[in-house]
This record gives sequence, structure tokens and C-alpha cells, in this order.
Amino acid sequence: MLSFTPDADLELLFDPELIPADVKSQLGPDLHIRPLAKTDYTRSHLSVLSVLTVVTDPGVEAYSAAFDKQRLSTSTYFTLVIIHKPTDQIVAVGCVFIEQKFLRGLGKVGHIEDIAVDKKVQGRKLGLRVIQALTAISEGQGCYKTILNCSDDNIPFYVKCGYQKKENEMVSWF
Ligand code: ACO
Repeated sequence: MLSFTPDADLELLFDPELIPADVKSQLGPDLHIRPLAKTDYTRSHLSVLSVLTVVTDPGVEAYSAAFDKQRLSTSTYFTLVIIHKPTDQIVAVGCVFIEQKFLRGLGKVGHIEDIAVDKKVQGRKLGLRVIQALTAISEGQGCYKTILNCSDDNIPFYVKCGYQKKENEMVSWF
């Protein structure tokens, strides 16, 4: 039987205090929001991400190495997860990474990426809570704006999260 692992027992990607208390308090008692942990490979991280796009399993060692690489890039990668406490499994994920610029007085921009909520719990405001937390982290890191790309279908979701449509996305696939 799996049991909930407290933050203190985990190697976390960033300081959990950066996640706003009001976002934490709006989750149900069966849910917990925290930074990604090095052992989250075993908590369905990749399977939750697969609702978004193709996910290739790199294996636990390569996963851990990627985690270490992100953590060494101090104040750059902020991936967070929502845990279903009774199963200790991830049900929602999202990331904001912080770009250091040379313009706007060495300004910073937060880029929101890889938002995914397990199909079983979509519509329970978990996506909203992930975006609220990531936006607050971006603001707390001193970014002058937070941006993201999404499909037309997801525009109403991001509008509900307080975002507005601006310009277009371009891509070159490799
Ligand atoms: N169209 C219209 N409204 C929507 C949609 C949608 N596609 N998705 C959510 N909403 C609305 C909800 O009805 C709710 O409105 P309400 O406040 O009036 O009740 C509000 O937005 C908040 O919705 P949540 O319950 O927080 O949404 P959920 O937890 O289901 O998460 C998400 C939304 C992330 C899009 C989820 O459905 C998902 O994981 N989809 C598949 C993966 C995906 O598309 N991810 C986003 C990619 S873009 C990126 O990563 C930057």
C-alpha cells in the first residue's frame, strides 16, 4: 500500500515556500502541491504528461540525471506537481522556467510549459491552481511578464486563469 511522502523526506527541485499559501489552501484535503521531487519518476510523472503529448520513457537513471541538471540551474526551472495523497501519485503537473534577458534593464520572463492534468481529475480546478502557483512563482522571481503557447481549444482555459491572447506562435521542428 502506497503512503503519502512528506516534503521533508524528498529531494525537491526548489523551495516549497515559493508556492503561495492561498493556492495550497484551495486544494482539497486529499491533494498536496509541491515542487517536483527526484523520485517522482515512480509517482506517474511521465504518465500524467502523456495526456499532453508523446512521452518517451528515458528510464529512472536518465530521469534522475535530468532532474539534477535542472536543479543545478539555480532559479531557472520551477516544475511543480499536485499529489493525490491517498495514493501518493501525481495528478497534475506544470513548469515555469525563467529567462534572463538583456533588454528591459536585464529583465526576466517566465515561460509556462507542459501543463497536464490526469484525465480522471480534469475539471476540478487543478489546472487553474497549477497556473496560479506558476504565475506567482514567476512574479516572485522578478519577471516582468509570464507567457505560454497553447492550442485554440485551450484559450478559454487560460483566459479563465487570467491570461490574454497576444500575437502568434511560430515553430521549426527538428
Ligand atoms: N475549454 C473551455 N474551458 C475550459 C477548458 C477548455 N478546454 N479547460 C478548462 N476550462 C475551464 C473550466 O471549465 C473552468 O471554468 P470555471 O472556472 O468556469 O468552472 C476553468 O477553465 C478552470 O478549469 P480547470 O478545472 O482548472 O481545468 P483542468 O484542471 O481540467 O485543466 C487543462 C485544464 C490543463 C487544459 C487539462 O484539461 C489538460 O491537462 N488537458 C490536456 C493537456 C493540455 O492541453 N495541457 C495544456 C497545454 S498548453 C501548455 O502546456 C502551456
